Amino acid sequence: MVKKRFDGRKNNEIRPMSMEVGVVNRAVGSAKVQMGKTIAIASVYGPRKVLPKHLEDPKRGLLRVRYNMLPFSVNERKKPGPDRRSIEIGLVMKNALMPVIELDSFPRSVIDIDVEIIQADAGTRVAALIASSLALADAGIPMKEMITALAVGRVNGEIVADLTKEEEDVEDAIDMPIAITSRTKRITLLQMDGIADIKELNKMIDLAIKKSDEILKEQYRALEKKYVLVE
Ligand code: CDP
Repeated sequence: MVKKRFDGRKNNEIRPMSMEVGVVNRAVGSAKVQMGKTIAIASVYGPRKVLPKHLEDPKRGLLRVRYNMLPFSVNERKKPGPDRRSIEIGLVMKNALMPVIELDSFPRSVIDIDVEIIQADAGTRVAALIASSLALADAGIPMKEMITALAVGRVNGEIVADLTKEEEDVEDAIDMPIAITSRTKRITLLQMDGIADIKELNKMIDLAIKKSDEILKEQYRALEKKYVLVE
């Protein structure tokens, strides 16, 4: 018999997802992504002039990513404003997205991505990455391919996809967010705390690669609601 998870899902099952592009009127591109109870909204501004000017690069564009969790997104009210965690997440998100953006196409310019976490139940950085990738596409920013992302991990000795906060809080649980490029299947983000053996690690990566296609399909579906996609 297959053991069920706290919320009744199978080990390899992703929470119900919904994705929509063009949700923010004033941004050049935007997207909202919900995975279970986790909700992220990303907006893209630019490419536009770099201010202050001394930061501009004559050869390529810059990417800035700001990740923010709203005070009411978590059970314990979060103190508003940036903290170490959000600054780190912004940085790893930037590194995960940069390899697919054609930054050489817009020298002396900057693209800003702002992400707000409206509701958090684990997996906020992966929801933020999916939303950012969709928002970049919605903004018409030239990209070599898309980024998709999900968290896999180990809960009570089982390898599982898309952990909830309740699962992350289990003793010895491992949460491993991964970002994967859509076409060349390269990993641009992989984070892990805790102790896993190589077998478990391989199983987690295999599961992430397998399930990432499901998420990617949903990303394309969201884009197809607004655009006609061509190869
Ligand atoms: O959200 P993600 O899994 O990418 O990052 P994390 O730092 O591993 O946080 C896991 C979860 O802890 C978040 O998604 C929130 O549900 C929760 N959290 C919280 O309740 N209060 C915070 N100040 C930060 C995170």
